Amino acid sequence: MADYRMCHSPRLSGEVWIGTAKNAVLPIMAAALLTGEECVIRRMPELTDVRHMEELLESCGAKTARQQDAAVIRAAAVQNPTADERMRSMRASVLVMGPLLARNGECVCSMPGGCAIGQRPIDLHLKGLQKLGARVEMEGGQIRVSGKLQGANIYLDFPSVGATENLVMAATLAKGMTRIENAAKEPEIADLCHFLTAMGARIAGIGTNNLMVEGVEMLHGAEYTPIPDRIEAGTLACAAAMTEGSVLLQNARSDHMRALMFKLAESGVIFQEDAKGLRLRGKAKRPMEVRTLSYPGFPTDMQAVLMTVTTQINGLSVFLETIFENRFMHVVELVRMGAHIRVEGQLALVQGGKPLTGATLQSTDLRAAAAMMLAGIAAQGETLLHDPADHLMRGYEGLERKLQLLGADVHKQA
Ligand code: EPZ
Repeated sequence: MADYRMCHSPRLSGEVWIGTAKNAVLPIMAAALLTGEECVIRRMPELTDVRHMEELLESCGAKTARQQDAAVIRAAAVQNPTADERMRSMRASVLVMGPLLARNGECVCSMPGGCAIGQRPIDLHLKGLQKLGARVEMEGGQIRVSGKLQGANIYLDFPSVGATENLVMAATLAKGMTRIENAAKEPEIADLCHFLTAMGARIAGIGTNNLMVEGVEMLHGAEYTPIPDRIEAGTLACAAAMTEGSVLLQNARSDHMRALMFKLAESGVIFQEDAKGLRLRGKAKRPMEVRTLSYPGFPTDMQAVLMTVTTQINGLSVFLETIFENRFMHVVELVRMGAHIRVEGQLALVQGGKPLTGATLQSTDLRAAAAMMLAGIAAQGETLLHDPADHLMRGYEGLERKLQLLGADVHKQA
């Protein structure tokens, strides 16, 4: 349980390192269950969700260890996960389903829970696994998928990130060819596919909406360094865009951040890409219209944080959240700081330009907590952010430290 204290910080500038992407590392860790050989994942981020995934993999029979900044995972034999509470509390746990089914012919686990931002169903995961020949049984909050997997043609009604990841992993050991149409194509999925290819999987169409997976007998171990975190980079870019700062995001992959960069550039921020990463300077000063979409559209994970930026911009900014049903929980807290925001269903109207004043806030979910931290930096006076569920530590590796490095007055209170 952590609290954070923020005070008004008018200028952010300097250099900060972008760490490895949480949403790339989690599926890659699950993919290590597909082989009995050792997998080494380098530049591991220090995140609670990553530690929880290691616990979950161990409950599936894997051995995990750390060597400097790498995680070493070896699943010589696998079993159904015994970490029920973890299955329910962390959405990414569902990603062990495809690998266990493909490796062992079965996965029995707790139905993954929803969370604050939505019910988080897994119907698309299950429908796809059934197309691959799996039998799905549900009883008493438990779910059992079982059967020998045969290649199939799958069409995803929605380009679900998790469903795409689960199905690609399952298909790598299915008999024959699998085609996944309308697949999600977030950079983290391409990264997973590159890791699977390093393990000996045969995947074509990587980075597109149409993936072709030719099943193989077995996969071998691999070493891999996942991509940097585009959402961490975007969060720090938004913090800088609220000030007249000049910031270098070292190691950032600007090719993964085009939607956010264009939005901020339209608003007046100047970007420069160079060998060290992504530089930005100047302040966002024109209101924006934002519609969250699957990649390469504007990422839903950046919606809350960018909304904080627009509270500082004169004029009406409009956000349409099309991915999750309940992802405006940061609005109540921003309004308590003096922001003028009206929510109409999936639409949020931000009448920006009025200064925020410090307040005591309560975090509700990971990205909302980041939005509140940035609001505390922008606001006059002092803001205290209570984060009883440690949402921030689940998904950001020392966000307060990185903001401090850029000159923000933000401190963590244990
Ligand atoms: C991944 O979640 C990310 N998590 C999320 O990041 C991200 O917001 C999301 O993709 C969208 O980009 C990880 O990668 C660990 P989805 P995921 O399946 O896979 C509905 C963060 O802050 N849906 O693309 O759960 C679902 O309810 C987190 O880092 C179904 O209806 O996202 C949601 O409305 C939050 N049926 C929408 O699709 C299904 O079977 C997007 O879900 C699956 C999903």
